[in-house]
Amino acid sequence: MIKIDLTGCKSFEEKREQYLEKALAAYDVLESAEGAGNDFLGWNHLPSEMPQQLLDDCKAVAKSWLDKKVNLVVAVGIGGSYLGAKAAIAALSHNFSVNLDQAPVQVVFAGNTLSEDYLADLMDLMKVRNVAAVVISKSGTTTEPAVAFRIIKGYIEEKYGKKEAAERIVAVTDKARGALKTLATSEGYKSFVIEDNIGGRYSVLTPVGLVPIAAAGFDIDALLAGARDMEALCSRKTKDNPAIQYAAARNCLYDEGKKVELLVNYNPKLVYFSEWWKQLFGESEGKDGKGLFPASVSYTTDLHSMGQYVQEGERVMFETVVSVKNPARKVEIPSDGDNLDGLNYLAGKRVEYCNEKAMLGTRLAHIDGGVPQIMVETETLDAYHLGGLFYFFEKACGISGYVLGINPFNQPGVEAYKKNMFALLGKPGYDELAKELAKRL
Ligand code: PA5
Repeated sequence: MIKIDLTGCKSFEEKREQYLEKALAAYDVLESAEGAGNDFLGWNHLPSEMPQQLLDDCKAVAKSWLDKKVNLVVAVGIGGSYLGAKAAIAALSHNFSVNLDQAPVQVVFAGNTLSEDYLADLMDLMKVRNVAAVVISKSGTTTEPAVAFRIIKGYIEEKYGKKEAAERIVAVTDKARGALKTLATSEGYKSFVIEDNIGGRYSVLTPVGLVPIAAAGFDIDALLAGARDMEALCSRKTKDNPAIQYAAARNCLYDEGKKVELLVNYNPKLVYFSEWWKQLFGESEGKDGKGLFPASVSYTTDLHSMGQYVQEGERVMFETVVSVKNPARKVEIPSDGDNLDGLNYLAGKRVEYCNEKAMLGTRLAHIDGGVPQIMVETETLDAYHLGGLFYFFEKACGISGYVLGINPFNQPGVEAYKKNMFALLGKPGYDELAKELAKRL
């Protein structure tokens, strides 16, 4: 269900055994739950332990909204409480579903920015649609979603009345703590729990991701089935475990001086998957002055912008290509009698044939230019294989973080901006810091 090709990293080939041993040791730390952050391992065997009832509950929410003819679901959340659902919905949707009016329910996102324009535009959309909302925050106190939700909740209550609003709003949050939990209980919202032992960026396969993905009409049973099969594949303590191989290769490249990992796709449906991956690895590994900087490009689009840098700029990067073997659709290049564009040599070929040749040509050019390449190949881009990809990268991230020697499950650095923002906003309890900051601004 997934193939890892490391032949594009010549230096890894030479140090293969050494780094596979390191990754196997890190795998042991993860599986024995003896490493740093071991109270955040709830994601590790989640796919195989997921109760069917929880999946059915997520689907029931989607159905209840369909019964009300809801055609716009606003998913409110930020970071790990948003990117997984956004990535899945983008990967599984028709590229133009909105324009074609194909999807009965459109899922849009809010609370992931403090842009006033964004919220005002969203209100315009909400006015002309039949609306429901899912508000997602593990801590229940994050400012961005809290601000957005207050506005969205007010709008839904005004439009449908308080009682009906309570049937159109679902909360996903902590089982006991946080303002969102208090609010959801007091308003009588249907609520899903984010377990204490699952961090935001590892939560896509919990109701955090599953409620919006089901609301968008996608098959969450297949998503979980793919994750479950990948869990089985990545739970083997062997050197051909793909998660162990990937963790080993990227750490080897990092130790050799590569500081940037570019996640590459050749399919624009994966742009948000890269955003999810960037959070997963950036927040997990970027600490203690260490960690690969996770970046992303979408080819061939970005070969015409970033391609120059990748080919000839600072030699600090390597690429991890997520390649989809079989496209879901088929488009052939037609023959043309006049051949004015000179393209008849491609007549009868599929567009994907050109995409594949571009991928192979780029691979050789970049390797020749000093950019090693890891290839991760999935069969196709459907819910089953996407579930597998999510789990694969989560597992590899846990192992890789332990190879690097950091705690892959905390995110202490995220607090710094929050403290300053609270002080500048005048939040009670931040008066002293507010005075200090005022002097510096
Ligand atoms: O991965 C993480 O822990 C973070 O990115 C959080 O998901 C993000 O900060 C949102 O937090 P919360 O779900 O508590 O609102």
